[in-house]
Amino acid sequence: MAQINQHFLKLQAGYLFPEIGRRVSAFQKDHPDAPIIKLGIGDVTKPLAPAIVEAMHQAVDEMGAEAHGYGPENGYSFLTDAIREHDYQARGVKIAADEIFVSDGSKQDSGNIQEIFGTDCQISVTDPSYPVYVDTNVMAGRTGEADSEGRYEGIIYLPASEKNGFIPPPPDQRVDLAYLCSPNNPTGAVANRDQLGQWVQWARTHDAILIFDAAYDAFIQDPDLPRSIFEIDGARECAIEMRSFSKRAGFTGTRCAYTVIPKEVFGRSVKGEPVSLNALWGRRHATKFNSVPYVIQKAAAAVFSPDGAAQTAAQVADYMRNARLIREGLGGAGFSVFGGEHAPYIWMKTPNGLSSWDFFDQLLTRAHVVGTPGSGFGPSGEGYFRISAFNSQENVEAAIERIREGFGQ
Ligand code: MLT
Repeated sequence: MAQINQHFLKLQAGYLFPEIGRRVSAFQKDHPDAPIIKLGIGDVTKPLAPAIVEAMHQAVDEMGAEAHGYGPENGYSFLTDAIREHDYQARGVKIAADEIFVSDGSKQDSGNIQEIFGTDCQISVTDPSYPVYVDTNVMAGRTGEADSEGRYEGIIYLPASEKNGFIPPPPDQRVDLAYLCSPNNPTGAVANRDQLGQWVQWARTHDAILIFDAAYDAFIQDPDLPRSIFEIDGARECAIEMRSFSKRAGFTGTRCAYTVIPKEVFGRSVKGEPVSLNALWGRRHATKFNSVPYVIQKAAAAVFSPDGAAQTAAQVADYMRNARLIREGLGGAGFSVFGGEHAPYIWMKTPNGLSSWDFFDQLLTRAHVVGTPGSGFGPSGEGYFRISAFNSQENVEAAIERIREGFGQ
C-alpha cells in the first residue's frame, strides 16, 4: 500500500458544508414532508441573468462554427480587459493584464495559493474564517494537531469578536501569510479603508503577504468602502487578491473567478533571493490548469456589459434586501445579529447559550430551517450561527417567522 499524506489525518471531521448536507438529508429521509428552507451554504438561488445566457448561447454557436481549443491559460483578453476596466480602473486602480489569472473558482484559488509558499511558512487567519484557508494549510503540513476546540497548533488565530467589530487587527507578531476576507465570510463584517490600511502597513513592516479574499465585494453598499485591497496604498507590494463571479453573478455552478498578483509582490528563496510571486503562480497555473472554458469566459465578460451589469446588480440588490429582512426581523425579535449590511451573511448569537451545532440541530428539527454553525468556521465561531441571504424573499420571510416563533426571546 502506498503511504498517504499523513497531514490529511489531522483534519477535523468532514468539510463543513457536506456535513451540513448529510445532517439535512438524514432529517429529510425521516421527515419527507418537512418544508425545509435552506439558508446554509451561500449558494445562489436565482438563474443566470439573461445577458449572460445570451452570451453563452452565442459562444456555443461560435464554438460550433469554428474550433476554440485550449484558451490562454491566464484568461482571454476580452475578459481580463473587462476586469481591468470595470473592477479596477473604474475605482482608480491600475492592474496590468498579466497580473490577472482567470480561474474556475475562488475556492480553488484560495486553497491552492499556499502551494507556492514554503511549508515552514507561518500563517494567520481571522477566526472564524472560510474553512478552506485552514484546511488546505493543514493538508500541506503547515500545522500540528488540532486541540479540543479545533485550533491547529502552529496557526495564529485572530479572534473576530463583537469588541473588534468582527474585523481583528493584524497580529502583534510576524507571520508569513495572513488570510483576510472582506466583506467577511462568515461574519458579514466589512473592513473600512483605515482597517485595511493597518493591515497593509503591518504586512509591509513585517514583510508578510496578505491573501485577500474579496469574493463578496459586489455586496458592498457604500461606494466609499474599499472593494479591493489594491485601493490601499502600498498593497501592490504585499497583497494577492481573489475575486469571483460566483455570488455576484450567479456563477456557483458555472465557475469563474480570478486572482490578481501584482509584479511588485515577492517571496524569497531559501538562499534569500527575491522571487516574483506573479511568476511563480503563473508557472503553477500553466502546469496545473488549462483555462476556463471559452463559453464560461464569454459569460463572465457579459457580466460587465451594460445589460449584464444592470441585471446582476438587481440580483445582488434582491439578496441584500433579504439580508436586511433577516437582520431587522431577527434583531427586532431580540436576537443579537451582526453583518448583513455589506455582505449576504448575517451572523447571530445562538439563543439561550446553545452551542452552534445544537442550535443547528434544533433549528432544523423544530423550525425546518438550515443555517451554518459558527463553530464550523473556527473556534471563535462557537456560540454563533450564520444565516445566508441567498434564497427567495418568500422563503426568507417564512424562515424569519419560524425562527422568531421557535426561538424568540
Ligand atoms: C459559503 O457558504 O461559505 C460558501 O458558499 C462556500 C463557498 O463559496 O465555497
